[in-house]
Amino acid sequence: GDRCKALQRLKVKSQWAEVYKYGNAREEFGIAVWKEFFAHESAARDLFTRVNGANIYSSDFKAHINRVMGGLDMCISLLDEEETLNAALAHLNGQHKERGIDAKFFDSFGAAILRVIPERLGEGFDQDAWSGCFSVIADGINKA
Ligand code: HEM
Repeated sequence: GDRCKALQRLKVKSQWAEVYKYGNAREEFGIAVWKEFFAHESAARDLFTRVNGANIYSSDFKAHINRVMGGLDMCISLLDEEETLNAALAHLNGQHKERGIDAKFFDSFGAAILRVIPERLGEGFDQDAWSGCFSVIADGINKA
């Protein structure tokens, strides 16, 4: 679509690969995103009691962070493979829609990611590409 064009998809893929590097940087990145998210949306912690959202450094929550960031990694990898992306988003939608998640949390989660990534990228963060392509992913996960 217009908000996440072909070249923007490639830009997001390459910038994501710079940030979501295998190893310690990956876990730190995920923790930074969730810390930023909860700093702005403390009420959202109540959704994560099952995975110990009260302590983002706990093993249970770190495992949750790995599931979410792994899911996001999959979606970003599939940005240039639209039919498979849509199948992945439909599956993630099924894992979220019964949970009563306020749509504004997806906006805030995206905003947190879009604040943390530029801190970790050398240069050239593409705000338009990220906001457009993140919203394609978030809308797919969150649609009614
Ligand atoms: C669980 C991905 C955003 C709330 C999960 C799981 C994945 C995932 C892969 C694990 C599913 C399972 O194994 O059952 C994503 C991705 C997101 C995203 C890729 C954004 C791009 C959000 C947001 C919220 C949210 C914004 C609400 C603030 C939850 C909850 C669970 C969950 C409540 C279940 C936690 C539990 O195990 O108890 N998510 N998620 N997700 N997600 Fe998301």
